[in-house]
Amino acid sequence: MHEWVFRWLPSNEDSIVEKGLAVTAPLPPGSHNPFDQGYYNSKQLREFGFGSVGDNVQIAKNCTIVGLSNIRIGSHVRIDDNVNIIAAKGSVSLGSYIHIGGGSYLAATGGITLSDFSAISQGVRIYSTTDDYSGNHLTNPTIPLKYLGLKIAPVSLGRHAIIGSGSVILPGCYLGEGVSVGALSLVTKSLDPWGVYLGAPAKRLWARSKDLLAFEKQFLEDSAST
Ligand SMILES: CC(C)(COP(=O)(O)OP(=O)(O)OC[C@H]1O[C@@H](n2cnc3c(N)ncnc32)[C@H](O)[C@@H]1OP(=O)(O)O)[C@@H](O)C(=O)NCCC(=O)NCCS
Repeated sequence: MHEWVFRWLPSNEDSIVEKGLAVTAPLPPGSHNPFDQGYYNSKQLREFGFGSVGDNVQIAKNCTIVGLSNIRIGSHVRIDDNVNIIAAKGSVSLGSYIHIGGGSYLAATGGITLSDFSAISQGVRIYSTTDDYSGNHLTNPTIPLKYLGLKIAPVSLGRHAIIGSGSVILPGCYLGEGVSVGALSLVTKSLDPWGVYLGAPAKRLWARSKDLLAFEKQFLEDSAST
């Protein structure tokens, strides 16, 4: 919700960003925008039956999330509008300081892990399970399992990994620490750390700077002292 607005806010608007509130033109007092359903907070989410929920977690109220007991969430996590997380089988493990952009889809049968400070942009699809597209099996979830040739394998994003808008990640991919994936990419294999990748299939273009690690250190020190 409102991700583009967040990016370009002046620094004095930081507190609004942290709260994940709408920052478009304020509504007149007492009015209600029916399109903005808002977020559940940690206190509310802990009552829903998640495996665990840390502090300062926000999940948009119009998400579809299945298999709550299989989902563990760290602290400072924001999941935006219309995200689908399907974890009836498998598991999802989210670290801390994680953002999942609106319209993303996580199919978690094989297990999905997002490490601290990782981010997936809008409309990213992560599949830890997929049908067999070769023609050797029947396909689609209306068919009993014994006729299917599902590929089921975990997907994992290392710390500081970031996935650009509209990208797709297939089962069995481990994206190393600091990996960045450009918009509209297709990740079919594991990616080595600290690279910028893009395309279909995603290829490494150049090294990604590690300067952000100094910011992480400073940020965590500042956070601990306040
Ligand atoms: C991959 C990316 C990080 C590269 O950014 P950059 O370092 O500024 O690189 P440039 O824009 O100079 O692009 C370098 C080349 O790659 C091409 N390119 C850039 N992004 C591309 C993409 N996603 N797919 C295919 N080609 C891409 C450019 O056209 C350019 O090609 P050229 O050298 O032939 O002109 C960026 O383009 C991107 O995709 N970022 C994701 C943004 C996003 O999804 N944001 C959502 C909100 S967080």
